Amino acid sequence: MLISLGDAVARLQQGDIVALPTETVYGLAGIALNPQTVHKIYSLKGRPSYNPLIVHVSSIEHAEELAEFNDLARKVCDEFWPGALTIVLPKKKCVPSEITAGGNTVALRSPAHPLFREVLDLVKQPLAAPSANPSNRTSPTEAAHVLELFGENAPPVLDGGPCRLGMESTVLDLSVSHPRILRYGPVKPEEIEDILARKVELPNGCEPGDKSMQKSPGTGTTHYAPKTPLLLFENINDLKACKPSDTDWFIFPQKTDLPHEMMGFIDHIFFLSENGKVEEIAQNLYKVLIEADKKGANRLIALLPNQKNDQLYLAIWDRMNRAGKALGIG
Ligand code: TXA
Ligand code: MG
Repeated sequence: MLISLGDAVARLQQGDIVALPTETVYGLAGIALNPQTVHKIYSLKGRPSYNPLIVHVSSIEHAEELAEFNDLARKVCDEFWPGALTIVLPKKKCVPSEITAGGNTVALRSPAHPLFREVLDLVKQPLAAPSANPSNRTSPTEAAHVLELFGENAPPVLDGGPCRLGMESTVLDLSVSHPRILRYGPVKPEEIEDILARKVELPNGCEPGDKSMQKSPGTGTTHYAPKTPLLLFENINDLKACKPSDTDWFIFPQKTDLPHEMMGFIDHIFFLSENGKVEEIAQNLYKVLIEADKKGANRLIALLPNQKNDQLYLAIWDRMNRAGKALGIG
């Protein structure tokens, strides 16, 4: 069911959960300081209780009420908020342990989407919001995706149109002595390093092509995954060697990546972008995975984008690798 802004605000104030648009992906939102509401979010998502939620706030001032800020945190928030950067800091007492999965830190983000910001201003309370998908499935970038992914259990959705970035925020841990990126996203490591004037640690084993990430327990959970097995290839010759057939569907970064001899499959191909622009690939990735998953294919076969001149490809490879793990690649 699609609902109005006023209805969304009223439901949130009653302690209910609603799906809201952000500039990254749709979020499953509820009042963060209400443990019962937080419990409803975990239960609808089927999310393991050890995985904490992000708290969304309208300003740095509000964030400072919830966490122990430091200079590095102020610097990145001044630069990237409102926006697609989540920071992890030591939590203050007022933050219930339900939302932090029992931990001493809290993840905070001030989203840029005008509708989400309007809701925050009207509700006047911080909102917890994980991505609005059942645990481990592909994140929704349109209101219709939320309805489809949850089916009859779907929460009411405030439709804000397609998400501008299409990929979850970058998560930066500032609760430790060396800042570390925990999840790649739209804000790039080099942009953060420029603002902090120091190096940041990168996620363990998430380097593109590093298959150890898929084997290491702990980081080995399947995420962002379609139900159809997804095979990933770094180069077109390996892709052709997997004997494509017309029971398969294909995902290519752009039209020019399509080899002549695969033209026969043109009706079974999704393109992530018109011209290989990395922002467009990121924006379309989940939409394409969700659409491709509905085709009833035996396999989804994807060519990884190769735009290594732009660090946004790190986030794209990370998500595609996790989605592809369903088949145990590597
Ligand atoms: O763009 C986004 O971040 C979206 C929109 C809705 O804001 N939200 C989102 O939330 O992606 P979620 O719950 O799907 O992903 C949050 C990530 C998880 O990987 C979680 O483990 C991590 O942030 N996280 C949350 N709290 C944390 C904490 N205290 N310490 C370390 N990681 C944390
Ligand atoms: Mg998520």
